[in-house]
Amino acid sequence: MSQLGTETAFEVLARAEQLAREGRDIINLGIGQPDFKTPPHIVEAAVKALHDGHHGYTPSPGIPALREAVCRDIEKYRGVSVGPERIVAVPGGKVTMFFAIMMFGEAGAEILYPNPGFPIYESVIKFSGATPVPIPLLEERDFSFDAEAVLDSITPRTRLLIINSPANPTGGTIPRETIDTLVAGLEKHPHVAVMSDEIYSRMTYDGLEHASLMAYPALRERVILLDGWSKTYAMTGWRLGYGVWPAGLVDAAIRMAVNSYSCVNAAAQYAGIAALTGPQAPVGDMISAFDARRRLVVERLNAIPGLSCVMPGGAFYAFPNITGTGLSAKELERALLERAGVATIAGSSFGAHGEGYLRVSYANSRANIEAAMGRIRDCLAQL
Ligand SMILES: Cc1ncc(COP(=O)(O)O)c(C=O)c1O
Repeated sequence: MSQLGTETAFEVLARAEQLAREGRDIINLGIGQPDFKTPPHIVEAAVKALHDGHHGYTPSPGIPALREAVCRDIEKYRGVSVGPERIVAVPGGKVTMFFAIMMFGEAGAEILYPNPGFPIYESVIKFSGATPVPIPLLEERDFSFDAEAVLDSITPRTRLLIINSPANPTGGTIPRETIDTLVAGLEKHPHVAVMSDEIYSRMTYDGLEHASLMAYPALRERVILLDGWSKTYAMTGWRLGYGVWPAGLVDAAIRMAVNSYSCVNAAAQYAGIAALTGPQAPVGDMISAFDARRRLVVERLNAIPGLSCVMPGGAFYAFPNITGTGLSAKELERALLERAGVATIAGSSFGAHGEGYLRVSYANSRANIEAAMGRIRDCLAQL
């Protein structure tokens, strides 16, 4: 158990809430979820499901209509045809991650993962007994990676490669050419499976098209796709996600489900169908709002002495370089929260390669973002 890590975002949130209870005015830019509410037609679908008596267990991988709706969504947004038998609904995207890493990880195995990256990758890799091998994400590549360097890190012990685009915590996206190079190189390493975390797939900006690992026929039988409803439909608290598993791994994923949570909350599954099959305008409106805030936050961060920030291509995070402040990421996180009342997350919370950066979530109102940027500037001027 000592190998199992955690997600610092929850600790910062707890401290920010404690300060707020003590009467401090806190602006939370540490948060990893949309500040929007779930669209009403989705909420109504869940309420209706409860009134209609959907109170029992469902099939473990999800009700058939949900799995079929996921397939149509994958066809629509990724141009890929998969059968519903490959879909396993899970209580949150995180669960697909946990299952995949536990399936492939064991003592002596190596798992490649993005660093800085979602902290649960490294945590669960260590928990599984495997060795975490970081893929450094590079600011000079807008937080993508060097595909040749990744291929060079593969050894006979490598079991799984984790990719996340658009990414938490950097907001970076991996260009299609980089994925092309990676996929071509992987043909020489048939023993390596890939888990592609595409939970932010709908959140790309500047007309950028999401490049999905699912779309490469060469990887068809070794890609596990992680996606879900949490970010796209502002449904983090509903706990609903899905995995698309290679044919040879579906039964294992379902057995993991049966051994842990049996099935996802039935009403949430009906909400999930409404989300995928209903109007997409609320998603578009939310992403437009994020886009405008993204420009605002990057412009304001770059105007603060000591900070510099590349323009993120996706998700709802900016990842400014803070080395000009002379402070460590944790020191700056603490100073901003305690002195300026602005919650952010130290880049080092996302792995060693995140030192020298800060994660700033712009899932907050324009007014709060403006106010927070003023506070950060003033706080740094006084330090
Ligand atoms: C990269 C990434 N993957 C997966 C998840 C987990 O999503 P869920 O809330 O659906 O479990 C998150 C949530 O923050 C994330 O940032």
